[in-house]
Amino acid sequence: MADIKGSAPSAIEVNGTSFALHGKNMSYHLYVDPQTQDLFHAHFGGPATEYEVYPSQADKYWHGWTNRVNWMRREFPDLGRGDFRLPAYQVRSAAGHTVSELKYEGHEILRGEKPESKEGLPGLFGEAETLVVKMRDAVSGLRAELSYSVFPQYDAVARSVRIINGGKDPVTVERLSSLSVDFAEEELNIIELRGDWARECQRTKRKVDYGTQGFGSTTGYSSHHHNPFLCLATPQTSERHGDAWGFSLIWTGSFNIEVEKNSQNLTRATVGLHPAQLSWKLAPGESVASPECVAVYSSEGIGGMSRRFHSLFRKHLVKSKFSEQPRPVLLNCWEGVYFTFDAEKMYQMAEATSALGIRLMVMDDGWFGGEKYPRVNDQAGLGDWEPVPSRFPDGLPALVDKITQLEVKGKGEKLRFGIWVEPEMLNAKSVLYETHPDWVLHAGDYTRTENRNQLVLNLGLREVQDFIIDTLTKLLESANITYIKWDNNRGMHETPSPNTSYEYMVGLYRVLSTLTTKFPDVLWEGCASGGARFDPGILQYFPQSWTSDDTDALERLDIQFGASLVYPAASMGAHVSAVPNHVTRRVTPLEFRAHVAMMGGSFGFELDPTELSEEEKAKVPGIIALAEKVNPIVVSGDMYRLRLPEDSNWPAMMFVSADGATAVLFTFQKRANVNCGFPNVKLQGLDPKAKYRIDEDGLIVSGATLMNIGVQYYYKGDFGSKVVIIERQ
Ligand code: DGJ
Repeated sequence: MADIKGSAPSAIEVNGTSFALHGKNMSYHLYVDPQTQDLFHAHFGGPATEYEVYPSQADKYWHGWTNRVNWMRREFPDLGRGDFRLPAYQVRSAAGHTVSELKYEGHEILRGEKPESKEGLPGLFGEAETLVVKMRDAVSGLRAELSYSVFPQYDAVARSVRIINGGKDPVTVERLSSLSVDFAEEELNIIELRGDWARECQRTKRKVDYGTQGFGSTTGYSSHHHNPFLCLATPQTSERHGDAWGFSLIWTGSFNIEVEKNSQNLTRATVGLHPAQLSWKLAPGESVASPECVAVYSSEGIGGMSRRFHSLFRKHLVKSKFSEQPRPVLLNCWEGVYFTFDAEKMYQMAEATSALGIRLMVMDDGWFGGEKYPRVNDQAGLGDWEPVPSRFPDGLPALVDKITQLEVKGKGEKLRFGIWVEPEMLNAKSVLYETHPDWVLHAGDYTRTENRNQLVLNLGLREVQDFIIDTLTKLLESANITYIKWDNNRGMHETPSPNTSYEYMVGLYRVLSTLTTKFPDVLWEGCASGGARFDPGILQYFPQSWTSDDTDALERLDIQFGASLVYPAASMGAHVSAVPNHVTRRVTPLEFRAHVAMMGGSFGFELDPTELSEEEKAKVPGIIALAEKVNPIVVSGDMYRLRLPEDSNWPAMMFVSADGATAVLFTFQKRANVNCGFPNVKLQGLDPKAKYRIDEDGLIVSGATLMNIGVQYYYKGDFGSKVVIIERQ
């Protein structure tokens, strides 16, 4: 057993069997109960140094109807021994019961590069100290390893659990949380991101009340309805001030988050796999691991929590080299032409795209299906990744060649080409389905229910994983393709087993890891009917995801501000589309649409460029110039939500570059404000003593003035917007 006590300043301190994990402004304490050898939780919050005192205090106040274990703050609560709150795990024995009793057995501390998951699950990477606490049930032989990797710079702890069957009989794991924390705060609020297709990531707040509240996903995938993210905050916590705890599950499958406030005013939060989709048999010697959950604490309000997640994810989650790099302005053809195009139309669009100074052209759904099942609508072709001959008489490489010869106006480079795929799905009308009907998810003879006329390939099967890896490899090697949009447009039903979502994810991660390692120069974008898989698992492999199919700029304010609670702007795709908007029918000015989209790391257009009016065409180069100016700050700077779209008619967000030299302020007016004042917006994140030049009005003022008095802008009419560059002098 390693003991690092007395060594240089350390993220992990140990005194006997009491442990303290320290961030720059955070401490997390746990200890072994001297009476029972259970692992108890003591503190997760601001920095606190006295962590070795807990064992002597452990049951000072207990007296009551339930046993002591129901009163204590526990680290990995079990089931069936008197703790009547939510268990963190549940294991059914061969005899059929679910009682277990894990006691502390030992611990070790690992230093250096954080260990990778043995199952190939995504997780944080980089230098970290890791505490592994080993637990054992003396009756059954069951073992658990609780792993805590500390990233002090971000006040973050990445926590995961491995369950090992150390007994003689098989057992079944029926519930597995990555993390469980018991809070002693009297009052807390839950803040989460809920929604649906085309209205993802709606920031939602509710009070933690007595009893259990929760949310999760059973769709097989992570999001749309709820995101695998939980924020707990006190009622006094604001964007700028107060305690906020964030929990983000690095997982793309179904998940479960529950919060329970019990009669003793303790609040338990558990985050992990969904128990309705887990029944994992372990033979003696076998193990299963939970995904990793990242827990972050901030005393600087919800904004502080978000900024910690943003920089942590950009530097220690996203593996792509593009993580903090400016992204090319792109044009995606989907809303411009949907399924109605051929090589000639694509080339015309590419010409118009390059003439506008746009650097990347993306051909979306509708190019494949081969001769037999041309993808001219959503009823056929998925699975057959050959171009439609009638649409591409000279083949795909010839078109890509022609397009990538086009000069991008004013940029001194050639137009890049990107392409859409949906490799995890197929239509029943496809050669792939005719050849491999057994490859899709199905449960015996039950109808294979279609959604958007498609079925889901079972990525738990090795041969399916290899098929996808081969298909994408061939596609990428066939032509000069430098961007892939990877879509996924339905949930899972008729799953062959409750473990399908887990097995599928392990397979999916193998596929994504193989392809992104093989093609590191390709810019990969995730998508799932918009943001149905906007999660940190995907972010490990794809540096950006399409945030929503709702491209209405007014709606996008809610969606992008919501997503920014946990996800960096660098991970968000945001496009300017035509008006009336195809989802809402709303008409908004081009500038407003562009300014909202510029708050996303991957800025682009989603329309037919050959149909732009002369007036619009004249404005586009200026819009691109501004987007390219702000993009480096948006993708790598610190983000501050100054006013929220749900609270204010004048939402505002700003970014400050990593070196503090430049900031960019985005301010909006949602509705015309008749005969009424315009409030100042106070900036954040500046140096109070430094002087800054504001490009909008040429003023040079101090950071203190900008942060304490703020700036005031006036708008006329609905949908006003301004992008203001602020430079340190
Ligand atoms: C759903 C995506 O979210 C859209 O952007 C588009 O790619 C369509 N699928 C294509 O079918």
